[in-house]
Amino acid sequence: MLSRDLKDRLRAYETPFYLYDMDLLRRTLTRVTGLAREHGFVVHYAIKANFDPRILYEIKESGLGIDCASGNEVRCALEAGFDPRKIVYAGVGKRDKEIRYALEQGIFAINCESVQELHVVDAIAAELGKVQDVGLRINPDIDPRTNSCIDTGQADSKFGISYEEVVSRIDEIKALRNVRVAGVHLHIGSQIRDMQVFEYLCVKANAIVARLTSLGLYFDFVDVGGGLGVNYDIPEREPVPAFESVFDIVAKHLDVGGRPVHFEFGRAIVAQCGELITSVLYNKTTATGRKYIIVDASMTELIRPALYGAYHDIENLTSSATGHDRYTIAGTACESTDVFDEGITLPVTRRGDLLTIKSAGAYGMSMASRYNLHDLPRAVYSDDIN
Ligand SMILES: Cc1ncc(COP(=O)(O)O)c(C=O)c1O
Repeated sequence: MLSRDLKDRLRAYETPFYLYDMDLLRRTLTRVTGLAREHGFVVHYAIKANFDPRILYEIKESGLGIDCASGNEVRCALEAGFDPRKIVYAGVGKRDKEIRYALEQGIFAINCESVQELHVVDAIAAELGKVQDVGLRINPDIDPRTNSCIDTGQADSKFGISYEEVVSRIDEIKALRNVRVAGVHLHIGSQIRDMQVFEYLCVKANAIVARLTSLGLYFDFVDVGGGLGVNYDIPEREPVPAFESVFDIVAKHLDVGGRPVHFEFGRAIVAQCGELITSVLYNKTTATGRKYIIVDASMTELIRPALYGAYHDIENLTSSATGHDRYTIAGTACESTDVFDEGITLPVTRRGDLLTIKSAGAYGMSMASRYNLHDLPRAVYSDDIN
């Protein structure tokens, strides 16, 4: 989060750009690794949230593992120096070439999301003369009480294998020769703020683990996924998310026979350390009286508001005018949904003012596109601003 001192120096950079608070990132990593150590938990970082090389460097140095969702994410993690034995790979539609690549790298586990995928991994492993450790990503049918666009663990979802199917096809799964079921994996959604949801997850996980064990499936670890939410409304109140809450709940309610427990946090690690800095281009008022501020960022830099109505707090960093007004903040892209927020009250805002769109470190840059042939936004790191 920006100090006044830092704000003055942002004028030197061409907008729009992502600004990363590297001290906050390091504080977040110190917190999550310290708590994980106390509990004996293993934490992976979901690289899909942000694959910026300097962010990855800090994460690698902190000792976290990596959770990937594509072959290129596995490649990116390896190039960033992560140990293959700390890499897990989930994803509902892994292509054959991605599976082959992951197998060749000797990653820790592939989390499989259908029985058919297990057979494909088994066949490719056989061709390579390997036995690959896999996790069974099981859909536990839990409502994560979050934005429905980012829930992944309800019965009708495309993610994971239904528990019933795993049970009914357990002999078929056990008979595979070139995959070894090394873990059970659950990930029910993102931006989970209701901590009771994690308790329900533990209760379901306990039942799943007990039943699969009784059916003679022996596995080493249980991965309860990521999903811990952050405070988008008032980020200053909670710069480091509530890792202690989710860890305490899991320590208290998860009972998986002493097996190592893994997490895969994305958003909670990087959301609050990133902001999108943008300049005001134009003010205009529609015939209906709506006051628009057109900024030089758009959904091509940060798609979350346009894609699923996500909220980001916006602040005018440089306004010197007196008084306030109500504005709709819109981007440059040729799409009507390219709006960052509607009807927000800001100090009187004019061409040339700098705005910050906060909590944009997760699923911001990693979802950026070149629509309208915009340039991809650059990154500025607090460590480099002096
Ligand atoms: C399998 C898996 N693990 C972890 C994550 C990270 O989730 P979050 O950023 O909410 O922690 C995701 C996000 O989509 C995921 O699909």
